[in-house]
Amino acid sequence: MRKLMFAAASVAMMALVGPAAAQSPIVIKFSHVVAPNTPKGLAAEKFKELAEKYTAGKVKVEVYPNSQLYKDKEELEALQLGAVQMLAPSNSKFGPIGVREFEVFDLPYILSDLPTLRKVTDGPLGTKLLRLLDAKGMTGLAYWDNGFKIMSANKKLVTPADYKGLKFRIQSSKVLDAQFRALGAIPQVMAFSEVYQALQTGVVDGQENTPSNMYTQKMHEVQKFTTVTNHGYLGYVVIVNKKFWDDLPAERRAELDKAMKEATAFGNGLSAKENEDALAEMQKSGKTELVKLTPEQDAAMRKAMEPVYGDVANRVGKPLIEEFLKETKATN
Ligand code: LMR
Repeated sequence: MRKLMFAAASVAMMALVGPAAAQSPIVIKFSHVVAPNTPKGLAAEKFKELAEKYTAGKVKVEVYPNSQLYKDKEELEALQLGAVQMLAPSNSKFGPIGVREFEVFDLPYILSDLPTLRKVTDGPLGTKLLRLLDAKGMTGLAYWDNGFKIMSANKKLVTPADYKGLKFRIQSSKVLDAQFRALGAIPQVMAFSEVYQALQTGVVDGQENTPSNMYTQKMHEVQKFTTVTNHGYLGYVVIVNKKFWDDLPAERRAELDKAMKEATAFGNGLSAKENEDALAEMQKSGKTELVKLTPEQDAAMRKAMEPVYGDVANRVGKPLIEEFLKETKATN
């Protein structure tokens, strides 16, 4: 009898633990710092939906938005340690882990529009840059768009002289540091999750970001003026912990690759509209005054930021800057 009870218990346990364990899904924790209703937030949700569909539930993607798990710098460390598996930090955030090359995307006015950006990201240079991440224990999977950045402060920013002496929050990029120094401003590196409060309390005077990021963090509510400069690009590199990725069964990796490709097309297809809508909403709110620059004012801003290319050539690499410029001018 005892033997039978033992056997029955074993069968019951097998039924519970055995198949359940065999079926337990692979979990991808995808951490990011922005709101769900942004280009990155929406692309991450699309990736989750497609990844779970193509793997028939064998992979589960948990998306953690709004710095819920980690702030900017911490999330990269968490990925390297394997505490999360996937992230999409902006190009401006790889310097602190020793990859400076992505800062080339931060150069002021280096990209005139999204089709030009695609020439770089979809071409050999884009692939070459992704490969730099291998040595850091990361695999670069895709480039996701946000869009072009605008400036804001409680002061009307029209000419380069208007920036003088003001403190601006920047992401951790030396190119962005040089950009604000070229304007005579004082850059201050700060995590994205802290920007709203820093603007509200006057720890910094202004900031640069895309309309979608500004709007979803309500930054426009604490900045009297927003100038539509479109002076720089903000986009993302989707990265995954390399060991986690390499250890996946080839079949799963192929399914996830397909999901990533489609989520990328989806997100990059809606980013421009998301930013246009956010800008319109900011204007409609009446909380910030939108300032548009005349062609002459725009030219003056471009001229003031020109020295940045020379200032950062040693850091980012002159050949890389030249290659980037060549790719953007290529007709294909
Ligand atoms: C920022 O820190 O301003 C952005 O990189 C946030 C983001 O992920 O879009």
